Amino acid sequence: MSETFDIGLGNHDVHLRKKADSDFISFWDDQARNLSWFSTWTATLDWKPPFAKWFVGGTINASYNALDIHQNSRADKTAILWEGENDESRTLTYADMFMQVQKFANVLKSLDVKKGDRVTIYLPMVPELPISMLACARIGAIHTVIFSGFSAASIRDRVNDSESRVIITADGGYRRGKIVNLKDVVDDAIDGIDLVDHVIVLERAKNKISMSAKDKFWNDLMDSASSSCDAERLESTHPLYILYTSGTTGKPKGVLHGTGGYLTHLYSTFKWAFDIQDTDVFFCTADIGWVTGHSYVVYAPLLHGATQVMYEGAPDFPDESRMWDILQKYNVTIFYTTPTALRMFMKFGDDVPNSFDLSSLRLLGTVGEPINPEVWKWYFKTIGKEKCPIIDTWWQTETGGMLISPLPGLETIPLKPGSGTRPIPGINLDVVDEHGDVVPINTKGHLVINNPWPGMLLTLWGDDEKYRNVYWSKYENRYYSGDFATQDDDGYIWLLGRADDVLKVAGHRIGTAELESCIVSHQSVAESAVCGISDNVKGEVIIAFVVLRHGLKIDSDALEKELVDKIRSDIGAIATPRQIYFVSKLPKTRSGKIMRRLLKAIGTNEVVGDLSTLEDGAAVTEVKKVFDEIQKSIKD
Ligand code: WTA
Repeated sequence: MSETFDIGLGNHDVHLRKKADSDFISFWDDQARNLSWFSTWTATLDWKPPFAKWFVGGTINASYNALDIHQNSRADKTAILWEGENDESRTLTYADMFMQVQKFANVLKSLDVKKGDRVTIYLPMVPELPISMLACARIGAIHTVIFSGFSAASIRDRVNDSESRVIITADGGYRRGKIVNLKDVVDDAIDGIDLVDHVIVLERAKNKISMSAKDKFWNDLMDSASSSCDAERLESTHPLYILYTSGTTGKPKGVLHGTGGYLTHLYSTFKWAFDIQDTDVFFCTADIGWVTGHSYVVYAPLLHGATQVMYEGAPDFPDESRMWDILQKYNVTIFYTTPTALRMFMKFGDDVPNSFDLSSLRLLGTVGEPINPEVWKWYFKTIGKEKCPIIDTWWQTETGGMLISPLPGLETIPLKPGSGTRPIPGINLDVVDEHGDVVPINTKGHLVINNPWPGMLLTLWGDDEKYRNVYWSKYENRYYSGDFATQDDDGYIWLLGRADDVLKVAGHRIGTAELESCIVSHQSVAESAVCGISDNVKGEVIIAFVVLRHGLKIDSDALEKELVDKIRSDIGAIATPRQIYFVSKLPKTRSGKIMRRLLKAIGTNEVVGDLSTLEDGAAVTEVKKVFDEIQKSIKD
C-alpha cells in the first residue's frame, strides 16, 4: 500500500465524469461551448483513424479567445507580471496585450504574411514571445517556436522543414547574467537560405548585432502599425502551430496542433487541474519553447483571463533563492514546475525556501518526468506546508494538454506521491502488453489511449505516413504513447518513463537517434550509441559510446572536445553528453541491434550477470567479449 494524502478543495462534480464515461463525444461538445465561437460546428468529431477533426464546421480564433473576450470585464486586469533575470519587471494588462497583439498582427500582414503561412519564432522569455504567437494566431499564420537554447543548425532544419519566410528573434537574451546573441545564431542559421524574406529583431539586450537588408527592428515596425486588427474567422481544424520534438528517428518531428479542439482541451484542463479563480496568480516555470509553455503559459491562462508571472532567466540565478523570492514578491497562488527543478531546490536545503513567506500558495503542480515520492513529499511539506494539493500532470507535446492528473478543481481524491492518479474525464486509456491486452494490476505495460481527444495532434507536419507509423501502427486505432506505466488496484496510473529511445534530460526530450546521427557525421567516427543513465537532479543524463574509424588513433581529449562542440552546434547545449567513451566495438544482437541495456549497465557500473538472458538472439560470446573490453578500456 502506498501512502496517501487526502487534500482536496472540496469540489466534487461526479456528473461530469459520468457524462464523460457514457459519451465522450457529447461530453467534449459541452466543454467546447465554454469558448467563444464565431459559428458553431456541424459535427463534434469526425474520426477517420488516425485522423481526428474536432468541431468540424465551427469557426474560432485563439487570439480572440485569449484577448478580445476579456476587454469588457478584464481590460485593466494584469495578464503578465514579467520578471527579467536582472531584476527588471514589466506589467502588461489584458488591454496592453490586446493592443500589442493587434499591432504586431498588422506588422505581419505588412510583411505579406497570410493565413496558413509559417512564422518561426526564436525569442527569449519576454512578453513579445506570447505577443508574436498570438499575432500569428490572430491572422491564421502558423507559429513555430524554437527554444532559444537550440543551435543554428537546428533552426535551419526547422525553417527549411516548415518553409518559414519570416523569423522573429531578438538581439540577445539573458541567461545566468550573460547575454546570448540570438541574432547571430539566426544569421548563421539562414546563411545561404533564400527562403527567408524577413527577420524581425526585437531589441532586448541592446548588444551589438549586424543588420542586413532582410532585417527590421521590432520597434520600427510597431511604430507605424495600426492598433486595430480583427481576428480571422478560422476553421476549428485550422493549424495553430508546429512544435518540433525529438522522437526515435534522426530528425525532430513537427507536431501539428489545431485550434478549436486544442483550446477546448486547454480551457477544460486548466479549470479542472488548477481550479483557476479570477484572483489567482499563476506561475508556470516552463520556457515557452517547449509544449508546457505553449499550452500552460500562453494559451490556457489567457483563455481564462488569469494573471500570471513570466520569468526570463535561470531558476537559480543570481542565487539559490530566486524562485522563492519571485513567489513571495508576486504572491503566487499556483505554482507549476518540473521534478528536475524540484530536485535541485531540494538539494539547496530547506533553509532557502523557509526564509520566504510562501503562504500565498494554494496549489502545486509538476510535469515532464516521473517525480520521485521523496521529492513529492518535500514539495508537499516544505513548499506547500501540507495545505496545497500537488497535481502530477502527465502529458506530451503530441497530446496538447494534460491527460492524467489529479483535478482539485473538479473532484477530491486521495493523492499518492509519484502517481498522476487517474485520466481526466473523456480520456479512456489502458496499460497493455505487446499484443494490446490489458496487463494485470501492478504490472508494467505500455500506456495507450483508446479514443481521440480534443488536444490531440492533427498530424506530423508534411508527413501523415510517419504520424501513422509512430503513433498508430503498434496498436490498431489506439494511440501509442511510448511510455511505460502500471495501474494499481485503485485504478491509479504510475508512469515509469519512456519505452522507446527517447531520453528525458532535465525534462527535455532528446532522441538517441538524433544525437547518434550527429556524432556519426563527424569524420573520425564510425559508429556511435548513446543512452541515458539516471541522475539525482536531472532525472537522466546522456552517455555516449563512440567507435572510431578503422585504424584511427586520436587523442581522445581533443576529439571529445570536438564532438561536444559539434553536438552543441548541431543540436544545442542541452544534448551534451556527460561522458563520451571511446570503444572498439558496440555490443549488438545477432540482428545488429545495439544492446542499450548493456551500455546503460556499463555507464552505471552495474553487474550484468548472465548475458544469455539479456536479449534474444544475442551473440553471447561475442557480446561478452565486447562488454569486457569496454569495461576494461573504461577502467584504463
Ligand atoms: C514524460 C511534456 C511522468 C513522459 C509535457 C512523456 C512524464 C514525455 C510526466 C513527454 C509525468 C511528462 N510523469 N512522466 N507527470 N509528464 N512525462 O513531449 O515520458 O516534452 O512521454 O511533454 O514526458 O514529453 P514532452
